[in-house]
Amino acid sequence: MPATSIVGFQFGDEGKGKIVDWKSRDYAYEFVVRTGGGANAGHTIENDMGTFKLHLMPSGIFASPGTNAVIGNGVVIDAEMLLKEIDDIGKKLPIEQLLLVSDKAHLVMPWHKLIDRLVEESRGSGKIGTTGRGIGPCYADKASRVGIRVGELLDVEQLLIKLSPMLHLKRCEIMAQFQQSKIDLPTFAELAKTLRIQAALLRPYIKDAGAILRSAHQEGRKILLEGAQGTMLDIDHGTYPYVTSSCATSAGACQGSGLPPSAITRVIGVAKAYTTRVGEGPFRSELTDEIGERLRQIGKEFGTTTGRSRRCGWFDVEIVRESAEINGATEIILTKLDVLSGLPTIKIVYGPNRRPPQVGDVPGWQETIEDARTWDKLPENAKSYVKTLEAMVGVRISHVATGPHRDSIIEVP
Ligand code: IMP
Repeated sequence: MPATSIVGFQFGDEGKGKIVDWKSRDYAYEFVVRTGGGANAGHTIENDMGTFKLHLMPSGIFASPGTNAVIGNGVVIDAEMLLKEIDDIGKKLPIEQLLLVSDKAHLVMPWHKLIDRLVEESRGSGKIGTTGRGIGPCYADKASRVGIRVGELLDVEQLLIKLSPMLHLKRCEIMAQFQQSKIDLPTFAELAKTLRIQAALLRPYIKDAGAILRSAHQEGRKILLEGAQGTMLDIDHGTYPYVTSSCATSAGACQGSGLPPSAITRVIGVAKAYTTRVGEGPFRSELTDEIGERLRQIGKEFGTTTGRSRRCGWFDVEIVRESAEINGATEIILTKLDVLSGLPTIKIVYGPNRRPPQVGDVPGWQETIEDARTWDKLPENAKSYVKTLEAMVGVRISHVATGPHRDSIIEVP
């Protein structure tokens, strides 16, 4: 059975979690896999079991009874946060039978979070606006081949032998580099105590997840690869250096799961009907006026992870078109169309990137569309906006989302 990859086509926060939840219920995926990023991502899931704020757990875990949730090798894991999520979800689901954590995923250590904060402070006005979750420094250690993998927790005493000099070295490096006389890192005894506890708690979940996924794929089981962040935050294809440190594309979903590229036959891009961005970096369709504020308030555009206000702007065709090319999109799902209701005119930004944008106008619609459940119930101008975007991007828009609920995802004929 071919795997499906769901990818963000803008700067993250496109509403992928909702799409994953909806898809995985309708198609009864047997495996839902997080393939990259870490606790910089965030999604809130509301269902009949309660409200869950998740950062590391795949959002498809609640999809159907028995869905296996996998945290793939491409993810960087803050063990404390993961254990909190395991604890929360474990009250409702038999998580020990459902969760697999790749032994090849990397661990975010206390110094990664400290370095993330200190580097950002030292950048001053040139800051990236990271989430402060230690993501960049953790991936930097991974690439420098000095990172710590989750599998090392299986022999925690051996890991501690390696960590003792490493902690000392990190302390010296940080103090020298940032000219700090005192830094906020645990002592070795504190770190050892924490890691022994975390190792014991995480042990049941640590597996060769890539091998398990490949067997599942060969057996024809349904796999959904759940992207984090968005293509424009990808380390290679995004607006470097204002990017995250992982691969946020469908190709990254293979690298971050251990599945071969040929396993993925369906790539669903998720894009908002407008654009948002958290943190610094280029955003040529940004609105700093009352329309931007209106989108922020109506769209509740505040970050799940940091609570920061998201920057808001018009839909930029070029961003989504380029993302569709990079990811090999087979379809696009357009979210939050309802947020644009009530605007007299809607602007669409297009034309080659890194050049002054061209801007077109289309008429808006005044009706609320949250209750529309079929395409023909949408106002003509809303339908025409969707069809205009589809023609400009050049990829089929298969569905639009018109509200926060699962049943507000409408099929586009
Ligand atoms: P980092 O991933 O914490 O290093 O942050 C790098 C950039 O990516 C910052 O601009 C963050 O705001 C942004 N970013 C990281 N993760 C997400 C996400 O899940 N949604 C939106 N923006 C994100």
